[in-house]
Amino acid sequence: MKPPVLILSLAIASPLALAAPPAVDPAMLELADQSRCLTCHDVDETVRGPAWRDVARRYRGKPEVEEVLVTKVYEGGGGAWGNDYMSANKRAGLDNIRILVRWILSLP
Ligand code: HEC
Repeated sequence: MKPPVLILSLAIASPLALAAPPAVDPAMLELADQSRCLTCHDVDETVRGPAWRDVARRYRGKPEVEEVLVTKVYEGGGGAWGNDYMSANKRAGLDNIRILVRWILSLP
């Protein structure tokens, strides 16, 4: 029974592995979860808010947006991605938000 099972699992696993996007730092995901960002965001999928890889792509090569985004995430705001509005995230704290925004902007 062993060889067929092995072949089957390879057939299932390898297309997924090929399609998988670059790995994400689990500590950062944990911080995002604790900061309640993940109720509206995902790294790869648009949820209520834009996928964070899309955010990184839009602002690639524009380091000056970092502080603007930190303030926007802290205070809330809209108008950049559609008609929805991001509520304030003050409980996450400015320091955590700065760490998260820096990480989001660096996503491949
Ligand atoms: C209640 C839902 C919600 C939560 C919670 C939330 N966001 Fe958002 N976020 C949004 C929406 C909606 C947008 C799009 C706003 C717009 O169109 O300008 C957005 C946009 C963003 C952007 C891009 C802003 C821009 O101007 O391009 C960043 C970066 C971001 N969020 C990070 C975070 C981080 C970090 C957290 C956690 C501290 C967080 N968000 C929590 C809904 C949310």
